Amino acid sequence: MHHEVSLIATVAVSFVFAAVFGYLADRLRLPPLVGYLVAGILMGPFTPGFIADGALASQLAEMGVILLMFGVGLHFSAKELLAVRGIAVPGAIAQIVLATLLGVGLSELWGWGIGAGLVFGLSLSVASTVVLLKALEERNLVNSANGRVAVGWLIVEDLAMVLALVLLPALAQILGAQGFGAAASAAGGMPLVLTIAITLLKVGAFAVMAIFLGPKVVPWLLTLVARTGSQELFTLSVLAIALGIAFGATEIFGVSFALGAFFAGVVMSESNLSHRAAADSLPLQNAFSVLFFISVGMLFDPSILLREPMAVIAALALIIFGKSLIAFCIVLLLRFPVGMGLTVAASLAQIGEFSFILAGLGVTLGLLPREGQDIILAGAILSITINPLVFWGAEVLEKGFHYKWPSFFASYGKKRHDVLARELGDIRALSDERNRQHQLKMQQLIDTFPLFAQVDEHSQEELLLLFKPKSASPGERIIRIGDRGDGMYFIASGAVEVQLDSDPVRLEPGAFFGEMALLSGGRRTADVVAIDFCEFLVLDRRDFNMFMSRHPALRTAVSNMARERAEMNTLRRNPDKTGTD
Ligand code: CMP
Repeated sequence: MHHEVSLIATVAVSFVFAAVFGYLADRLRLPPLVGYLVAGILMGPFTPGFIADGALASQLAEMGVILLMFGVGLHFSAKELLAVRGIAVPGAIAQIVLATLLGVGLSELWGWGIGAGLVFGLSLSVASTVVLLKALEERNLVNSANGRVAVGWLIVEDLAMVLALVLLPALAQILGAQGFGAAASAAGGMPLVLTIAITLLKVGAFAVMAIFLGPKVVPWLLTLVARTGSQELFTLSVLAIALGIAFGATEIFGVSFALGAFFAGVVMSESNLSHRAAADSLPLQNAFSVLFFISVGMLFDPSILLREPMAVIAALALIIFGKSLIAFCIVLLLRFPVGMGLTVAASLAQIGEFSFILAGLGVTLGLLPREGQDIILAGAILSITINPLVFWGAEVLEKGFHYKWPSFFASYGKKRHDVLARELGDIRALSDERNRQHQLKMQQLIDTFPLFAQVDEHSQEELLLLFKPKSASPGERIIRIGDRGDGMYFIASGAVEVQLDSDPVRLEPGAFFGEMALLSGGRRTADVVAIDFCEFLVLDRRDFNMFMSRHPALRTAVSNMARERAEMNTLRRNPDKTGTD
């Protein structure tokens, strides 16, 4: 029985069920995601009790995939992607082709057509990003060379699937009907070659935009927002960029949501603020990736296990053994070590989101029989559930290899692995160095201006963004008495002279000037002239007002200094008034 269930109910029940079953799974020493899958099955239409809105759940799941891919992108630079291309590109393509052929072969046995076989094979050939990342994260492998290769491999698979999703409708007629004879079959009246060309052009255009325009626009946008100092606006902008690019990529370029989000992340990783962006989006990522597993569970009709047990077992065997064996052999053929082969094989021995999308499309196009979709789903649920076991198996095999053929295990592929590991290490070191430089700059800021030690780290970072550097040569007048106050100056190096009626006052690095006119809203009270080559950090009036209003203690400190200076100047002008001078 179906009834209208609102978004809130779907999310609320999903979270409650997921929390309960996730916890239970953990108690049973299973990965929590098995609990989420069970929660999904219980919420789905094939089991009694509460039935959530499947369409809503699958949209929420898509959000999970988007956020997750965005997170992967944030931690993955374009350089790393290029570094692993030598293994990821041939590996993924060869694996897709071979696994698809196996799928076609299997479906031939069941008497399905070539079209059904192709959709079935393709669906089984592509692994799930969500599952892969969770598995790598749990084993602390995300940043290892093996993990990087697995993720790069998956990105290539995803790209291939984007192409497959676009081409499938165009090819449907040929596949479904008179075999391969109809050369210029049409999708919406368009010749096939043109469809392929347009698709490739769109994906290419997107990649070019992402690679060339993105690193300029996105960090600039983030900096702009970070300068406002508003935490929520920053988080919001991170999400807006991630989801905006994902959605835009799909609408304009026909790229998948996930891939769009991945590129948004890669582009954002170029920014100094990427750590904050990652930290800000993590909680949402976690919450929505749970919804992904729930929605997978909801689609599952357990009766398929009784209706077609042999087919499910065959599909599962293909996913777990067929695909892994292919991946393992490809890695070894490319002359990489056994350990990498096993990790990549275990990582890819499951299927997920793209498989459902492909299978769904296959059914809609009339290529894949409905039970094919059910078998794919069963394969997904089961392969995701036993993926930890596969990893465990891979570890056992690795130990076995190590024990049986120690010299082969240690030496085979070592050279290429070391080269890759070194290259990845260099890239990592470079980005670490960038972070260190940034930290150093912050530290220098506090060392030079102890005044800022009282504001928190976010605000210090914000100051770095707000400051505009300015320099002056000896004799140059920086502030003219009587002008309007346009900014406050912090001396990073060099020295200046504040020219008062009486003796000038010398100010050195660490000191500031130009605050009085800003605080009073009035005119400059003195001339300030450089007596050295000087470097300043300037806070303009708008930023000064905004920053000080959010840091009252800092404002008080600056105001106190301004008051002291004003008193001193009055005193100097009228030494008789107090009788002390
Ligand atoms: P403002 O009036 O905006 O421009 C001139 C600046 O000179 C002033 O702010 C102070 O920052 C600085 N200044 C004025 N009087 C003194 C003083 N006695 N000692 C140090 N700096 C001063």
